[in-house]
Amino acid sequence: MTRLPPELADAPLLRAARGLPASRVPVWFMRQAGRSLPEYRALRGEGSILDAIRDPALAAEITLQPVRRYGVDAAILFSDIVVPAAAIGFGVDVTPGIGPVVSQPFRTAADLDRLRPFEPSLDAPYVAETVRLVVRDLGATPLIGFAGAPFTVASYLIEGRPSRTYGLTKALMLGEPALWRALLDRLADMAIASLLAQVEAGASAIQLFDSWAGALSPDVYAEHVLPASAKVLAALDGIGVPRIHFGVGTGELLSLMGEAGADVVGVDWRVPLDVARARVPGKAVQGNLDPAVCLAPWPVVAERTRDVLRRNAGRPGHIFNLGHGVLPELDPGVLAQVVDLVHEEGRSDGS
Ligand code: CP3
Repeated sequence: MTRLPPELADAPLLRAARGLPASRVPVWFMRQAGRSLPEYRALRGEGSILDAIRDPALAAEITLQPVRRYGVDAAILFSDIVVPAAAIGFGVDVTPGIGPVVSQPFRTAADLDRLRPFEPSLDAPYVAETVRLVVRDLGATPLIGFAGAPFTVASYLIEGRPSRTYGLTKALMLGEPALWRALLDRLADMAIASLLAQVEAGASAIQLFDSWAGALSPDVYAEHVLPASAKVLAALDGIGVPRIHFGVGTGELLSLMGEAGADVVGVDWRVPLDVARARVPGKAVQGNLDPAVCLAPWPVVAERTRDVLRRNAGRPGHIFNLGHGVLPELDPGVLAQVVDLVHEEGRSDGS
């Protein structure tokens, strides 16, 4: 079990993640580090995001930018879910405006040979170095480490690029279940190695992103995806960091995602937070303001923010977030106002 530094003992995010009352409702934003920030665009320049991630001083600075600007209750590591696969030489890049692109997608059993075990300290030492630099500067603010869940990473490796239908992925999953299981098992091990290395270096919470799991029906998710995600979450059990599990469009999967073993279930904006809570009894929840609402005039944003808080009704175990990532075109000033509003009006004392 990792020992958290004493200054993190009362961090609202870590308390809320455990379902405990906190001094305030913690808030952070998925994709808080990124293109909505002018200081990000200025620093990042051109080129692949993977090059920026390989530069610890740069990646650490980008991780810290939103913490300074917004006063959020957590940093999230500046990295990407395809970093481990890229680091072992699977041939992945991230194309701006598109996302992960794979030159030779995963199609047959022979492709398993291209997925050797990921050894973080040899294959991607820059990640732990970035974590160490960030944690040194963060003080009492937790750093969230993360990995892509096996299904979502598999979908990129199989499709070769972002997909709307996940046709090739589902065909392989349902048509060649043994190969699918072998693939997901390797991706689970990759996520485990990556997350453990981030925690070892100082991350004090982790999030497992199964962003595209909402493409699946509950029975297919339960049979073909949940076991691999559960393996990842179980490997992170008992090491002293809370585990958040998130996907988009997962209203019908929330209870299964809770069963996969996370402490906190992330909720997108399609399910009202009170309804979501009832689907994951005993778990903390994270969410769930619609990111697009933040483009509306401030009184609308404020009302929708208050609606999320009202639906939680002061219960402990709520981490405020968007229902998915910050939109690149968003005015960062709006997010700063959301943070202030959540801190002023959010209660997490159960009173
Ligand atoms: O602020 C943060 O959230 C931390 C950094 C972060 C990035 N990617 C940086 C990034 C995190 C947590 C991710 C995870 C990630 N990457 C996910 C899961 C989260 C989610 O949104 O559901 C997924 C699905 C990916 C794959 C990926 N990488 C996509 C779909 C894209 C967007 C493509 C685009 O340009 O629109 C990326 C690229 C990416 N990852 C950017 C950033 C800041 C933007 C591109 C850039 O700056 O070059």
